[in-house]
Amino acid sequence: MKILVTGVGGQVGHAVVSGAPAHVELVACTRADVDIADERAVSGCVRLHKPAVIVNAAAYTAVDRAETEPELARRINADGPLYLAQAAGEVGARLVHISTDFVFDGTSSVPYRPDAAARPLNVYGVTKKAGEDAVLGALPEHSVILRTAWVYAASGRNFLGTMLRHLRSTGAVRVVADQIGTPTAARSVAEAIWQIIEKPAISGRHHWTDAGVASWYDLAVAIAEEAAQLGLLSASATVTPIATEEYPSAARRPAYSVLDTRSLTSLGFLPVHWRTRLRSVLERSSMRRLLVTGGAGFIGANFVHYWLKEHSADRLVVLDALTYAGNLASLDAVRAHPALRFVQGNICDTPLIEQLLREERIDTIVHFAAESHVDRSIQTPDVFYRNEHRRHSLDAQSGAQGLARGARARWTSLSPRLDG
Ligand SMILES: NC(=O)c1ccc[n+]([C@@H]2O[C@H](COP(=O)([O-])OP(=O)(O)OC[C@H]3O[C@@H](n4cnc5c(N)ncnc54)[C@H](OP(=O)(O)O)[C@@H]3O)[C@@H](O)[C@H]2O)c1
Repeated sequence: MKILVTGVGGQVGHAVVSGAPAHVELVACTRADVDIADERAVSGCVRLHKPAVIVNAAAYTAVDRAETEPELARRINADGPLYLAQAAGEVGARLVHISTDFVFDGTSSVPYRPDAAARPLNVYGVTKKAGEDAVLGALPEHSVILRTAWVYAASGRNFLGTMLRHLRSTGAVRVVADQIGTPTAARSVAEAIWQIIEKPAISGRHHWTDAGVASWYDLAVAIAEEAAQLGLLSASATVTPIATEEYPSAARRPAYSVLDTRSLTSLGFLPVHWRTRLRSVLERSSMRRLLVTGGAGFIGANFVHYWLKEHSADRLVVLDALTYAGNLASLDAVRAHPALRFVQGNICDTPLIEQLLREERIDTIVHFAAESHVDRSIQTPDVFYRNEHRRHSLDAQSGAQGLARGARARWTSLSPRLDG
C-alpha cells in the first residue's frame, strides 16, 4: 500500500514516517517537495504517485502569528486540505487530515465530542475549521478528520523543548495554569493515524489524544520532575503557576479543550496516560549532548546553526581553537542560545577534552576540527611538508585520537554495553 505523507518536516509528519510499518511504501513530502497551498503542485504530486492514502500533517501552526497573517494561514490550512481532498478524489485515495482542539471555544466543562459545535476563538482555529469543512465537503466518504491537541515531540519547536531550554538556562519558568487540555506525544498521534489507515471503514471526524487532563502548568511541572529524574535538569528548577492574563498573547486560546476520544477507543484504540508518554519520550530521546569540534569553522558553524534550529532541546558544546579558519563571528547569531556553550581550545589538549566530556556529560562528538592551511602547502610545499604539515598532521591525528580515547574512557565508565 502506498501512503503519501505531507508535512514530514513537522512533529506529527516526522512521527508518522518514523512509525511506518515495514509493509507500506512511503512517499514522504516536505514543504519543498510539495507546497499544499499550490493547487497545481498538489495535483501533480498526487497524480504522479497515485497513493492509496494521503496523510496531511502539513499546516500553518504559528497560532499567534496567524492573527497578523490570516490570508497565508487560510491558504495553507483551508485551501491546502481542499486541494489534497480534490486530488485524492481524482486518484481514488483516502485522505487522513489532522486538525486541532483549537476549533473549540473552551466553554464546555466536559470533553468535546467530535460532533460538538466548533466555534474557534482565533484565526488559526478558524482556518483549521475551514480546512475540515473543505475536506469533508470534497471527499465525504473517503476522508478522516483527526483532531488532536497539545502536541509535543523530542525535537522541533514545541512546549517540551521550550520548557527544557528555559529551565536549563534560568532554572525557573512561569506557566499558565488556567488552560486545560491533554498533552499528546506526536508518536501517539502517529500510532492512531496508522491504525486509521489499517481500518478503511473509518471516516468523518474523530478525536485522538493521550489520556488524562492537565494545565500547561501541570505539564511544565511534570517535564521538570521527569527531566530531573533522568538527570537532564537540576532538581531545583521551579515552575510557578500564572493566569492567562499574566501571559498576554496575540491569539485567544480555549480555557478548556479536552477531547472525547471514545469514537476511536470503542474501535479498540488504546490511549496511554499523557504522563506515561511524556516519560517515555524523555527517556527514549533523552536530550543529546554534543561536543562539536571546529564548530566555528565554515562547515562546523553551519552544522551548529542547523542543529540548534532542528534540535532545540539538545545541549551543544562548541570547541574551536580559533587559530586559522575558525571565526567566532560565524556563531554570532547563536552565541546567546541557552543550549550553546563555546569553549576556545585545542583538540590536542587532552585534560580539556576529558574535562568537557565529564562535566557536560557529552554523549556524541561531531568532529570537524582539522589543520586546513592548504594555501601554505601550495606556496611553500617543502617547508610546509617538513615544518607545518608534519607537525599539524601529527597534531590532528593525536587530537582525533585524544577525542576517541577520552570518549571511550568516559563512555565505557558509564555502561559496559558501550564498550568497543
Ligand atoms: N502542535 C500542536 O500542538 C497541535 C495541536 C493540535 C493539532 N495540531 C495539528 O497537527 C498537525 C501537525 O502539526 P505539527 O505540530 O506537526 O506542526 P509543525 O511541527 O509545525 O509541522 C507542520 C509542517 O507543515 C509544513 N508546512 C507548512 N506550510 C506548508 C505548506 N504550504 N506546504 C507543505 N508543508 C507545509 C511545515 O513546514 P515548515 O517548517 O517549512 O513551515 C512543517 O513541516 C497540524 O494539522 C496541526 O494543526 C497540532
